[in-house]
This record gives sequence, structure tokens and C-alpha cells, in this order.
Amino acid sequence: MRKIFFYTLLSGFLLSSAAVQAEDKVDFEKQIYPLIKESCVTCHRPPYEETRGTRTRTKKPKAGIILATKEGILSAEDESGSKILVPGEPDKSRMLEVTKLPLDDEMHFPPEGKAPQWTAADKELFATWIKQGADFGAWTADPAPGEGLEWDGKEKE
Ligand code: HEC
Repeated sequence: MRKIFFYTLLSGFLLSSAAVQAEDKVDFEKQIYPLIKESCVTCHRPPYEETRGTRTRTKKPKAGIILATKEGILSAEDESGSKILVPGEPDKSRMLEVTKLPLDDEMHFPPEGKAPQWTAADKELFATWIKQGADFGAWTADPAPGEGLEWDGKEKE
């Protein structure tokens, strides 16, 4: 009898701590944007001027997709005209899907060797943030999208 009581107590405790963990809210600015910045913003930043010698060119975001602003992320569409982020629906969010495609798929992003790949844990965290409703908190835009984009070429563990 005592044993049963103990196990009931133990499983109750384990269940409730799992529930608390599942509810921990993911913080976009602290936990998600840094992943986007290091792996996506090199190619998906707002238009900017680049000067080489005497020529100045306007560089445009790849596929017209800007991932350095809230508005950009929420309005971005894929080739088929669907929103790339669907709050609450990680499985319908192309923004997550492209990171999970096989590395040699031409629609896998980031392209191998161009920016660090997201780890399994990064993808899981991003999925949780989407599932929780894709809340950006107070964040609206990266004030300096062109800064801090250097990569040493090493993949994360
Ligand atoms: C080295 C440049 C580069 C990086 C880094 C990069 N992308 Fe892209 N991305 C592209 C290009 C180029 C396209 C357009 C591909 C095409 O239409 O053939 C694209 C297209 C996309 C699309 C549209 C796919 C579709 O089905 O139409 C999504 C979504 C996307 N990128 C998300 C991301 C995410 C998320 C990251 C970071 C995890 C990222 N990209 C990193 C270059 C990049």
C-alpha cells in the first residue's frame, strides 16, 4: 500500500514537471532571432547598397524574403504563394521545413557551407516557438541586420 502511494506521488510529480517544461515560453528575441541571424540573414536581409570600386549596387533579399524584421517574417511567401510562417502550425511552416530537407536538396536552407546549419535542438526550439503562437514579444526589427554576419565556416555541434 505504501509503495503504491509512493509511485502515485512520484508519477504525479514527474507529470507535473513535464507539463511545466512544456509550457515554458520561448523568447523570440533571446532564443530564436539569434538562430535566424546566424543562419539566414546573410541572404534574407532588407535591401542594401554595396560599393565595389566605383560601382554601387542595391543588393536585394533572396526570393524577396526578409527575415530580419517581424513584418518581413510574417508577410514572406514561398514560391507557391503560401506564408512561410504559420503561427501555431510548425508542420505547415515552410520556414522550418526548408531547414529539415536533405542537405543536397536545392531548397534546403541555409545552403551547405554558406551559413551554419541549425542543430536538431535549434529546429525543435523553433518548432516550439511556432506551436506557442509565434509571439515576437516587443521585437520588431534587427536594428543592424548587416552586422555580426561573419561565420568561421564551422558547423555547430
Ligand atoms: C546563402 C544564401 C541563403 C541563406 C543563408 C538562406 N537562404 Fe533562404 N533562400 C535563398 C535563395 C537563393 C532562395 C530562393 C531559392 C529559389 O527560389 O530557388 C531562398 C528561399 C527561401 C525560402 C522559400 C522556399 C520556397 O519554397 O519557395 C525560404 C522559406 C527560405 N529561403 C528560408 C530560409 C531560412 C529559414 C534560412 C535560415 C535557416 C535561409 N533561408 C537561409 C538563399 C539563402
